[in-house]
Amino acid sequence: AAPVEKEEAVLRAVEELAVADDYLDSSNLSSKLSVAHATLVDGVLKSLLARAAIRLETVTHERWQVAAEGLSYADAGSPEQRLHSFVVTCVEEGSAATFEKVDQALGKQVAARGRQQALKKRWVAIQKADKVFVPVEGADVVDDVAEALRTLRDQGGNPEGLQSDILKQLKSRKLAALKPYKTYKIFKGERLADARRVQATELTRTMLETDEWKDISFKGYNFKAEGKPTNGGCLHTLLKVREQFRLIFLEMGFEEMPTNNYVESSFWNFDALFQPQQHPARDEHDTFFLSDPELANVLDRDYLERVRRTHEEGGFGSRGYRYEWSEQEARKNILRTHTTAVSSRMLYLLAQETEFKPRKYFSIDRVFRNETLDATHLAEFHQIEGLVADRNLSLGDLKGIIHEFFKKMGMSRLRFKPTHNPYTTPSLEIHSYHEGLGKWVEVGNSGVFRPEMIRPMGIPEDVTVIAWGLSLERPTMIRYGIDNIRDLFGHRVDLKAIQTNPLCRLTF
Ligand code: PHE
Repeated sequence: AAPVEKEEAVLRAVEELAVADDYLDSSNLSSKLSVAHATLVDGVLKSLLARAAIRLETVTHERWQVAAEGLSYADAGSPEQRLHSFVVTCVEEGSAATFEKVDQALGKQVAARGRQQALKKRWVAIQKADKVFVPVEGADVVDDVAEALRTLRDQGGNPEGLQSDILKQLKSRKLAALKPYKTYKIFKGERLADARRVQATELTRTMLETDEWKDISFKGYNFKAEGKPTNGGCLHTLLKVREQFRLIFLEMGFEEMPTNNYVESSFWNFDALFQPQQHPARDEHDTFFLSDPELANVLDRDYLERVRRTHEEGGFGSRGYRYEWSEQEARKNILRTHTTAVSSRMLYLLAQETEFKPRKYFSIDRVFRNETLDATHLAEFHQIEGLVADRNLSLGDLKGIIHEFFKKMGMSRLRFKPTHNPYTTPSLEIHSYHEGLGKWVEVGNSGVFRPEMIRPMGIPEDVTVIAWGLSLERPTMIRYGIDNIRDLFGHRVDLKAIQTNPLCRLTF
């Protein structure tokens, strides 16, 4: 068989045994594959070893090796036997077995060896005067030398069944010798799989047409192989957590607001929210302003005028801020600083519907602030926001719905602390007891939207809008044990970690 096929057979056998952490014995293998051991070693094993497909461990043994001279005697008989039988034949024919005739018949070398041994064994004697050999009467002529040589040859050097004195004789006559030899324990090598890969994996049309398939070894199916990890896209850690929050909102019957515009006018981000134009948040140090296009268009002039009046003079139970409101300032384009900008747009749209229907909205998206960057602050981050617009909502509803929301993340101990927002009253910070940290931590902000915000939009008198917001980064960092925000977001993020981060389930 072709060496490739042998190689194949060896690999297959090794692979089978490797499962049991076992090894193959090279001499067993050579007889099983019916190849000479040396051929197996030199033709197959060495090349597999070089490719690290197998590992070899040497086992040293001893065996009798018959020398070339010994092998010739095994077939033709020992020199002493051949000399004796020649001498006997001569005597039978009535001629003298002279030295010369013996030399001629057996060859000088065999004759010399035969003479030495046959005399020693007293099979023949020499009549000195005539220089002729004569057989010794009654000699026990048995060619045990040739027989022992045949036995060794046929038993592959195994001396079983032979007496030690005959072996000693073979050794002293240099007809055979005890020689060390090596076999190998064959183990699976580090790159066994690679060597197996040279096998054909597919049957092609050409193989069929040319009969080539007959000589090709095909790779067997490995039904235990694990799938290759796909190199497709994967969700960023923040997006995994976002998905969980999204599910919580959807479970609670909230609709998602469209948050696809990062650019917003100051109007929707601040003015519509009754945030005065002198408010420090509207400073260039806190907000990114756009230079092109610098200003947004006015779409609903009536609404814009109602907002102006509310800022300047008040209304809806408020006395306003008493300053000159600038349309130019309101039209300035910015990167939205909070997702409440989207909420204000949505509430305005809701107010335009002919008949008010209760609504629950949420958003989770990116916002921008011109911050000094440090371990916990970036210029862009994500906010989660929920709002409910309905009739007869109380502060109890706000606290209740926030409890329900946070409970779904495993946070059931909440506390509310009064705070201030320009667009909510009352305003409540949300604190949660963090078991791991063993303390209360601020987890969000909330409140009831001010009449100065929702009435100019046209939201009916008896409708209350409650809302709350939190950052996406904070819970994500806690959930994944990240303490520097730059390891979570931005160019320093470890892509491997992103690919292998576990699924997110929000139970802190
Ligand atoms: N917009 C607020 C913030 O940026 C969060 C908030 C949302 C507060 C809704 C009250 C109501 O922190």
